[in-house]
Amino acid sequence: MTTRAVASAAATVANLGPGFDVIGACLEGPRDSVTAELTGDGLVTLVAVTGDGGKLAPSGGNVVEVVARHVLDRFAAPGTGVKLWLDKGLPLGSGMGSSSASSVAAALAVAALIDSEIPKAALLDACREGERLAAGTPHADNVAPCLFGGIVACLPGDGEVVHILPLPVPDGLLVVAVKPEYDVKTSDARAALPKTVSMDDAVHTAAATAAFVMGLANGDYALMARGCDERLATPSRKGFVRGYEGVVAAARRVGAVGAGLSGSGPTIYALSDDRETAIEIAEAMVDAFSEAGATAKAVISGVDPHGAQVSLLDV
Ligand code: HSE
Repeated sequence: MTTRAVASAAATVANLGPGFDVIGACLEGPRDSVTAELTGDGLVTLVAVTGDGGKLAPSGGNVVEVVARHVLDRFAAPGTGVKLWLDKGLPLGSGMGSSSASSVAAALAVAALIDSEIPKAALLDACREGERLAAGTPHADNVAPCLFGGIVACLPGDGEVVHILPLPVPDGLLVVAVKPEYDVKTSDARAALPKTVSMDDAVHTAAATAAFVMGLANGDYALMARGCDERLATPSRKGFVRGYEGVVAAARRVGAVGAGLSGSGPTIYALSDDRETAIEIAEAMVDAFSEAGATAKAVISGVDPHGAQVSLLDV
């Protein structure tokens, strides 16, 4: 009999509200899952990748391999290896944290086989190495909410260390995430970022952050709406998403609490406090993408408070 671990990790909206590289939310789905089995050969072997139309082949260089290697090196006895199976429920290049979900599921699955007492917090750095591979930077605003659940702020620490601050989630908060059929690579979107920003844009975004966080804390949706106006990254990135202005305007017109780029796009998210309104928002955003020439699909999700999950099974 062999023990395997199966971990599943959900989509996330990074850059939530005004929180470029800082605030992220964990959705209930879609999810990636990773199955892992320890070996004695010291190797990390990605046996198979399924899902997402077979876009990813297990040919080396997948984030799950890098993350698994970090977890083994840190926690396992020398010579321990692992076999991995990755099932992609999340589309690549979507702006919904596809690489993060794979990274987090891999970290959790491998750690669970080594020692069930390893805390999630000890896996954050390994997950961020997946982001470094996928996007060139170890930003935490996808992997942290994916791992821990809820809405979190990632505060810079010493060097590359980040501190995770859980933020309040208002009752009934719904996230509408609408993805057009094309992809945007996070590495390309990061290359488009300006090296400096204007004082006006920095002050505006700081004020928006105060409004957004206070809105979350008090369940004040009007204040959250004022806070959904990020001016550090969005101005240089919205050109990657055809129809961006029209989709955001359509969402707001039918009652969205706020809207913006999910991560580095092309998914655009909107917030709502009511399911009927969320459905109208989703339809309006899909229509607006269509007017801009793109077929788009919508997901409506609550915020998952639990984050990634793992279980062990004997096969
Ligand atoms: N904060 C990251 C970025 C998220 O905007 O580049 C990427 O999904």
